[in-house]
Amino acid sequence: MCRRAESCRYFPEDPLSHVQRELPRYQSSLTSAESYNILTVQYLNRPMTCVTFITIDGRRMAVQVQSGSTVLEAAHANDVPMLGTCGGSLVCGTCHVKIGADARAQLTPPSEDEEDTLDLAFGVCSDSRLGCQVKIDDALEGVEIRLAPTMQSG
Ligand code: FES
Repeated sequence: MCRRAESCRYFPEDPLSHVQRELPRYQSSLTSAESYNILTVQYLNRPMTCVTFITIDGRRMAVQVQSGSTVLEAAHANDVPMLGTCGGSLVCGTCHVKIGADARAQLTPPSEDEEDTLDLAFGVCSDSRLGCQVKIDDALEGVEIRLAPTMQSG
């Protein structure tokens, strides 16, 4: 249960997807069964971080997400209405979010490609980031992430 909000919901990543994604890293030195066991334990022990999404109409959605997830993945896993039309390919800008200065200071700065895509997004300000490029970890515990209007959402 989230330490900060009782209304947190938790929808974990599909365990099979996690194992399939990570398995190639281990297969050279371990048997498949050993690799699978290690990855299952890793999956079950992934730290969780609580963040609050604020939708365009002001609804607050406190969710608990696995560290290492992007903001876009966390939104989609928790039914937060974020478009993310290109799935993280940095071409659509529909994952535009606003994150306050204190939390932004904890983040890896935006890449040139992210800035180029943000230049074309709607209503950009100094708090703007692309949700598909921001990874959530425990440094962001309790952060508020505001969804920004896009051309598609109005
Ligand atoms: S999902 Fe398209 S730019 Fe982030």
